[in-house]
Amino acid sequence: MSPRRRSVVTGVGARLPERVVTNDELSERVDTSDSWIRERTGIRQRHIAAEGELTSDLAVAAARQALERAGRRPGEIDLVLVATSTPDNTFPATATAVQRKLGTGPAMALDLQAVCAGYVYALTTAEALLRCGRARRALVIGAETFSRILDWEDRATCVLFGDGAGALVIEAEEGTGTVLDRGILAAALSADGRHYGHLYVDGGPSSTGTVGHLRMNGREVFRHAVAALVASARETCGELGIAPGEVDWFVPHQANRRIIEAVAKRLEIPEERVVMTVDRHANTSAASIPLALECAWSEGRLRRGDLVLASAIGGGFAWGSVLLRW
Ligand code: UT7
Repeated sequence: MSPRRRSVVTGVGARLPERVVTNDELSERVDTSDSWIRERTGIRQRHIAAEGELTSDLAVAAARQALERAGRRPGEIDLVLVATSTPDNTFPATATAVQRKLGTGPAMALDLQAVCAGYVYALTTAEALLRCGRARRALVIGAETFSRILDWEDRATCVLFGDGAGALVIEAEEGTGTVLDRGILAAALSADGRHYGHLYVDGGPSSTGTVGHLRMNGREVFRHAVAALVASARETCGELGIAPGEVDWFVPHQANRRIIEAVAKRLEIPEERVVMTVDRHANTSAASIPLALECAWSEGRLRRGDLVLASAIGGGFAWGSVLLRW
């Protein structure tokens, strides 16, 4: 193997809004129950942003924590990438709001829109920019305020989502080119627009001129999710010649406990190596993977040198996986 530039994680941060909404509280609003939500999804509660608390506010708080833990100042960052489907405004990019609030200086800044697969898409994109030398130190943030695009009368969707943000600082380092290197080692991304209508928002600047509400055919998403996540995890691990069962941690997108369990079972990854936060956070779309990574890291489970497989799927459908050594 020849030396290769790797994108190594040097800091992780998270921010959840203060307000916690339990299933019981939701059942006062729509015709649902704590037992239905728990049994079908594993969700117990979700965090909901306060009035005036924007996606960029959550992103900035998560980014500050990640920078502090990486021992870096905002001025040392030359790429700000925000994965989000709930930007502050239609434009400019939420990443530029984050940049202004953090004071990163003239870094490259952009948003990436791949809904729940946003974070694996963003990490893969940032890694490519670091590898080719366009940037050296990136803030890769997943941040969402899905509460703003939910139809709070629709019990089939409003119980499933929450708000939050997670961030990683990743930095270019020279590796040896082997599987033992720290950093992002492999990735696979896919999308299939034939499924556009199974999970979408019924508004937008070019179609209705409104923001719109989330609409989902949950059963169809469920059916495709398991098969796509399994295939994507296998393809990504296959790049390194390993089986998914050999990773130290599986960090899937947190949409539904049943999906996560079905995928882990097919991949032969034991339960104790699966990071599960859907009970506490619900589905936070592009924020769910970095939030889960932060939980595993701050609880002392995820350690330097661990092999981590992150996989996600969402609207589009868009899906993918990233394999990295922490
Ligand atoms: O992040 C992007 C990826 N998104 C996902 O991964 C979501 C994937 N889908 C799912 O997680 C599941 O399909 C859901 C959790 C959304 C739904 O679970 P399900 O087991 O597929 O239930 P269902 O949609 O088949 O609905 C079963 C019943 C229906 O009643 P009938 O038609 O059987 O009388 C629904 O009307 O449950 C009813 N229902 C509810 N009942 C109480 C739907 N939502 C609720 C609710 N409370 N909140």
